[in-house]
Amino acid sequence: MLLDCDPGLDDAVAIACALRYADVVGVSTVGGNVALDRTTANALALCDILGAGDLPVHAGHDLPMSGSLEHRAQEFHGPGGTGSVALEPSARSATSNDAVSWIIDTVRAEEGLWLVATGPLTNVAHAIQTAPDIVGRVAGVSWMGGSSTVGNTTAAAEFNCWVDPEAADIVFRAGFEHLTMVGLNITQTVRLDRAWIDQLRAEIGGTAMEVFADMLDYYEARQRTISRASGAAVHDVLAVLYVTHPQVLAGIARPVEVILAKSAARGMTLVDQRPSRNPAPANANVIEWADNLAIEQLVRDALSP
Ligand code: RIB
Ligand code: CA
Repeated sequence: MLLDCDPGLDDAVAIACALRYADVVGVSTVGGNVALDRTTANALALCDILGAGDLPVHAGHDLPMSGSLEHRAQEFHGPGGTGSVALEPSARSATSNDAVSWIIDTVRAEEGLWLVATGPLTNVAHAIQTAPDIVGRVAGVSWMGGSSTVGNTTAAAEFNCWVDPEAADIVFRAGFEHLTMVGLNITQTVRLDRAWIDQLRAEIGGTAMEVFADMLDYYEARQRTISRASGAAVHDVLAVLYVTHPQVLAGIARPVEVILAKSAARGMTLVDQRPSRNPAPANANVIEWADNLAIEQLVRDALSP
């Protein structure tokens, strides 16, 4: 798989899961939770910690296709994107600052490649616009984003879609044979509680991996404070596990429309769930079930020695 991400605390856990369970050809970074310089520095530092210090990391777009962004998500992810943890800066810099070209070249070169995206779809959309042929080349796209029901950044919009709805619209209209939307309504149900994190710390304390317990502690506390729901929702992990362990998620083909109008609904993924004799053509596999306990165990196994 190719992982496009905006680390970001749950992105960090998703990177660990991807490296444990998948053949990762490389990582591209996008501006999202924090700005591109931070998401890129975090991706490089996380690869070092995870023993993947030679994995290609390509920096992409900082801003969405609209060219502007009201705010990011530092309130959940901390000012630098890794909570209160200052990761050891990597000695290396990004492999390139042209993630879009790297995505295109890699899709064209690799057979059976999955594009897994855990941030705004800006890089993926630019790649599609530049090289439409990649749509028919990829094995599929698995995106943590959107929602069949509630939003988080607004009542209607989930953050990754809210940041760049134009990009999401391009992806949903591109005609991918296998586009899976792992929406907030499902990802927010997989929550690592304090006892779970304490148990993880007991297993990884004193090792380089202990930073994951520190990051999850921060993330859990912020979510509990802001969202009033206990437990750290590791949203992005589910987009990775859909590819590596498809049995832990289930979805249904649905028509999905991205709302672009500058309104209270901008950034909403409008999922048509009506039982209809002549439904609109489905353009996505929308996840509607998760095996929460199995996912928690897969995360623990990915973070433990
Ligand atoms: O809405 C959750 C998504 O927004 C996750 O990808 C999280 O990392 C943030 O980017
Ligand atoms: Ca993310």
